[in-house]
Amino acid sequence: MSEITAQTLEAKFQAAPVVPLIQADDPVVAIETAKALQAGGLDVIEVVLRTDAALDCMEAIAKETSGIIVGAGTVLTVDQAEQVLSRGAQFVVSPGLVDPVAQYCLDRSVPIFAGTMTAGEVQRAYALGLRTVKFFPAKLAGGVPMLKALSSVFREMRFMPTGGVSAENLSEFLAVPSVIACGGSWLTPKGSIEVGDYNAITKLAIEAVALAKAARP
Ligand code: 3PG
Repeated sequence: MSEITAQTLEAKFQAAPVVPLIQADDPVVAIETAKALQAGGLDVIEVVLRTDAALDCMEAIAKETSGIIVGAGTVLTVDQAEQVLSRGAQFVVSPGLVDPVAQYCLDRSVPIFAGTMTAGEVQRAYALGLRTVKFFPAKLAGGVPMLKALSSVFREMRFMPTGGVSAENLSEFLAVPSVIACGGSWLTPKGSIEVGDYNAITKLAIEAVALAKAARP
């Protein structure tokens, strides 16, 4: 599996600053979902470690699709970070900031988006050497006003708001200059996946890309 850098991701996010989440029980479904997202213009995808099959799903996407950057979400421990990297994940996302997990990724130059929601957490991330963090749960943690307040203090920090982001508020989040990309599960609705309606997923991806283009002409 080729390694990617923070710069590669940044370039991807300039084209489409949206990271869809996949939570799947079946690698075949995960592949179809990833391809549907890619068809709609979103090719940086996070597979969350919230099902027993998550690692298999991640590996399947990494091996059986091309042009997709797959990352691992909900990574809670160093062991899990090690596992996901060995199964094809190219970046790591955590709901919170755990220094050893962040350090593990930093030591290997693996892009990590560790979750933060307070000034103290962002400052700790900064002290560890992180310059990009997840802002989670974005909507409940104060949304755009909180993000603006944090951004005014941590001028070098870039944020990936996730948690409560949707087509309704994507433009507002992306209008904040410090936002590198937004993440979310709204692009992969359970109902559509259950009935195999992958077109619906492609349409949601197309809509998100269009919203992003309008928010960042
Ligand atoms: C995450 O893991 O980042 C969140 O569960 C995503 O939140 P959402 O489901 O509200 O998009």
